[in-house]
Amino acid sequence: MVSETYRGHGMIKLIKPYISFDEVETEFREIFENGCFTRGKHVAAFAEQIKAYTGAHHAFLTTSATTALWMCMRLLGIGNGDEVIVSDFSFPATANIVEDVGARPVFADVSMDTFNMLPEELERKITSKTKAVIFVDALGNPSGIHTIKKICRDRGIPLIEDAACAIGSSENSIRCGNLADLTCFSFHPRKLLTTGEGGAITTNNDDWAKRLAIKLAHGAVTQNGKFDFVDYGYNFRLSELQAVMGIKQLKKLDAIVQDRSRIRDAYKLELEAMGFRSQQVSKNVMHNVQSLVFRVPEGLDRDRLITDLKNQDIESTLGTYCLSGLNYYKQKYSDIRQNSRSLQEQTITLPCFHNVNTMQVCKAIRKTFKIKSAK
Ligand SMILES: Cc1ncc(COP(=O)(O)O)c(C=O)c1O
Repeated sequence: MVSETYRGHGMIKLIKPYISFDEVETEFREIFENGCFTRGKHVAAFAEQIKAYTGAHHAFLTTSATTALWMCMRLLGIGNGDEVIVSDFSFPATANIVEDVGARPVFADVSMDTFNMLPEELERKITSKTKAVIFVDALGNPSGIHTIKKICRDRGIPLIEDAACAIGSSENSIRCGNLADLTCFSFHPRKLLTTGEGGAITTNNDDWAKRLAIKLAHGAVTQNGKFDFVDYGYNFRLSELQAVMGIKQLKKLDAIVQDRSRIRDAYKLELEAMGFRSQQVSKNVMHNVQSLVFRVPEGLDRDRLITDLKNQDIESTLGTYCLSGLNYYKQKYSDIRQNSRSLQEQTITLPCFHNVNTMQVCKAIRKTFKIKSAK
């Protein structure tokens, strides 16, 4: 399932790519022979397949989740004087794109269990300036999006789902991509499906889709085989080579998700017995286990654990970031959210891929904290 040629330089890495060169060789050769590197059949097919897989009415490929999210800001005309409420436990891109268009990112605290936006925080932060809400599927987990969606719908506020980590996840059997008004995915190499760099936007809104198609084509519509530039626009396109990679992985995505659930359960059994707490997932949610994140027991030093694991050739990292506590945002807005800050300090991401030796990782953790095995 994972690349057989991937070496990882002797280190147990956080993730291994779920694609090998053998799988793409035929199509890559064909592309090099026919010279069609962009805007060809593979890009068209990959966009169609993202649409079919998520169940969304429209899908657009982009160069990253960052450009996808930024495009949503432009699409909704968000700018100076506007506010966008964002989940506070996320990768900086979630807030950066709001800041970049001149609006204010308003940080909503998250649940210590699911790591996702708290509905009561959202309600508290809505003002007349709120132009959108960005709900982050923290580490791929969409738990709670339903409640957030209802609040947004009742108030007439567009809901953008930052599903950078969530391809393959679902709530109530509805896949991410078909839950919010606009959804943005990432295909970065840390994700389950990678095109090197890349991303996508999905929506069920026909008007937005029409405008996105134009914006993402330099502002052009094609009429009688000719371009007519009816708007200004951008180039955030994926290449044909990247689309081939995406197509190959999308086919096996559900199997990848199943496999990662098995790995999560193996880790949980060992680590929960040591007092570690796993990210909670609602009953009706399928979590793709994009990142396997645990809260380190109180009194144990998370940073020491990361260093100790590194010394044993095991890669790990923090869960993700408290956006309101990042230097730039802390200095500008001084509104640090406490749960999110605790999660940044207490969480650790552990290696998760097809044949990872979970026992070896757990043994290394036990060694760091001198915890005896229960068995
Ligand atoms: C929640 C979240 N949003 C946005 C991004 C940015 O994704 P990209 O690297 O595709 O721009 C990331 C990247 O990891 C992320 O985790």
